[in-house]
Amino acid sequence: MKILLLGKTGQVATAFQAAARGREDVEVIALSRADLDLENTDAIRAAILGADCDLVLNAAAFTQVDRAETLAGEAFAVNARAPGEMARACAERDLPLVHLSTDAVFDGLTDRPYVETDAPSPINVYGRSKLAGEQAVLAHARTVALRVSWVFSRHGRNYVSFMLRLAREREVLKVVADQFGTPTDGEALAAFLLATAPRWAAAPAEDPAFGLFHFANADETSRFDFAKAAIDRDPLTRARLEPTTQAAFAEPAPRPPRSPLDTGKLRALFGFTPEPWRPAVERTADRLVTTGLAG
Ligand SMILES: NC(=O)c1ccc[n+]([C@@H]2O[C@H](COP(=O)([O-])OP(=O)(O)OC[C@H]3O[C@@H](n4cnc5c(N)ncnc54)[C@H](OP(=O)(O)O)[C@@H]3O)[C@@H](O)[C@H]2O)c1
Repeated sequence: MKILLLGKTGQVATAFQAAARGREDVEVIALSRADLDLENTDAIRAAILGADCDLVLNAAAFTQVDRAETLAGEAFAVNARAPGEMARACAERDLPLVHLSTDAVFDGLTDRPYVETDAPSPINVYGRSKLAGEQAVLAHARTVALRVSWVFSRHGRNYVSFMLRLAREREVLKVVADQFGTPTDGEALAAFLLATAPRWAAAPAEDPAFGLFHFANADETSRFDFAKAAIDRDPLTRARLEPTTQAAFAEPAPRPPRSPLDTGKLRALFGFTPEPWRPAVERTADRLVTTGLAG
């Protein structure tokens, strides 16, 4: 099975390539920004029409949530126009497209985890651009939009590796305690994508394996407890953790205050049982600590 992977250098894409390494039945053709600039729609089309592959996986995105507020044109080009072009080109070849999206499509004003049928209502540019992207993708047959939230892993720069670093550098680390969500183990996500790729590659357009899904670890937490679970594993932590509020933090882009993802649809359809977030975070932190926080 041959998979065309876009966003080669990103966190999830790196986890995916690591998961596929050594697998003789899977070949990953990974393209970086240098290979394919996703602001160039003609190049996207040419890359997909010319690729020797059975499935396209889009792990690329403009993920800088605060910068998106002032770079909306770029955010929409990469997060909305590019996936739309990918989906069109994939449809021409009847290739399945798996695209990653985000909990940031929701406003966070909820009293329960979000399900796929809940109405999206993004409150920042990043969320609006990602919502436009998933809608552009899902307008075509044989497409998947998989929403994930708060992704962490041993790879790339992510919340866990970032907090571990900061906790070694600072005396006091203020962490937002009034934002809630479901962390997502990037390595479990990569393993799920790899395991499910053959099913998507073989499935006809009407198969329920296509469509919109939520993927995350089990149980909800706060940003504060998420950071604390990781930092508590590091014997070299110096910082004392102090809770703060989103309002005091005053980031340029507003964040949904509560955006946990319900994974019931995924569980029912793919028989996937998510691990609770805490052991997954602790395992990732332990691995990062033993490798000197190598990302
Ligand atoms: N990380 C999270 O907490 C989180 C949460 C919810 C949803 N998601 C979604 O999950 C997916 C994967 O996220 P991630 O954490 O792996 O992101 P990431 O580490 O920021 O990686 C993003 C990738 O996209 C590439 N990219 C950006 N603009 C590009 C362009 N114009 N042309 C070509 N490539 C471009 C980047 O290339 P460069 O390295 O060259 O910039 C990088 O390889 C995304 O769809 C994201 O929206 C992530």
